[in-house]
Amino acid sequence: MADRLYAGGEDYQKEFHPGDYLRTYYAFDSGPVAENEILKFNLENLFQTFSAGGVGGDVLIDIGSGPTVYQLLSACEAFREIIVTDYLEQNLRELQRWLSGEPGAYDWSPAVQYVCELEGDRSRWREKEARLRKAVTRLLQCDVTKPHPLEPAQVPPADCVLTLLALESACPDVAAYRAAVRALVGLLKPGGHLVAMAALRSQHYMVGAKKFFGLHLEKETVEQAVQEAGCQVLRCDHRRLSYSEACSINEGVCFVVARKGPAP
Ligand SMILES: C[S@@+](CC[C@H](N)C(=O)[O-])C[C@H]1O[C@@H](n2cnc3c(N)ncnc32)[C@H](O)[C@@H]1O
Repeated sequence: MADRLYAGGEDYQKEFHPGDYLRTYYAFDSGPVAENEILKFNLENLFQTFSAGGVGGDVLIDIGSGPTVYQLLSACEAFREIIVTDYLEQNLRELQRWLSGEPGAYDWSPAVQYVCELEGDRSRWREKEARLRKAVTRLLQCDVTKPHPLEPAQVPPADCVLTLLALESACPDVAAYRAAVRALVGLLKPGGHLVAMAALRSQHYMVGAKKFFGLHLEKETVEQAVQEAGCQVLRCDHRRLSYSEACSINEGVCFVVARKGPAP
């Protein structure tokens, strides 16, 4: 039913199928060129941030992980512990299948090999998979529309909060987006890093035959939200990349690295 626009909450619980999502956006080189370009843009920026850029520490919390692990492939070399989170139990189950190495779990090896090549040794991809599986210590439910998105779980203050493509799906308007960014920054230690990637000027994205809401964000809206939440923007990579029209309507993407200021 492509004419109905699904949005947060119950719609996600009933209608978001992780397998459809993965096949549409993460088929890597066998999928559409536009989706691959955005995946490579993310993998390269994540490499730049966590391998070359020196962002690292004890605890990284990934917010709205969905059923994907590509976003953690560079980070797992730079953090002792990774906490993955999502609104949906079905996404956390899909992640758990990959983390446990279950037969039939999604095959991330093309993305893992790509990142290993960026890091200089494609042949160590199995070692990286093992490293990531070991680094992920907890899978938690989260809701970014709440002021404390991980409650009732208790988590240590994070050295890094990571979020890719999740806030523009979860937030119905810019006010909610700003509040969500503030809530994410609230999970960080002073001096910790917020690493966020967004699809810009979104309207919707497809998961199988179902159309999900995407919040229209400008690059400036993303940067302002991060600054107003108490962070200094260190880097913003903005490109004119868009998904293929059959999958998603957006214009451009941006990848932001920011640092939380000292406690007032
Ligand atoms: C487009 S997917 C992005 C998944 C993954 N981060 C990626 O890069 O492919 C959007 C994600 O936002 C999650 N989501 C939707 N509403 C949410 C909410 N209120 N709080 C947290 N996550 C939410 C969905 O479950 C889904 O996993």
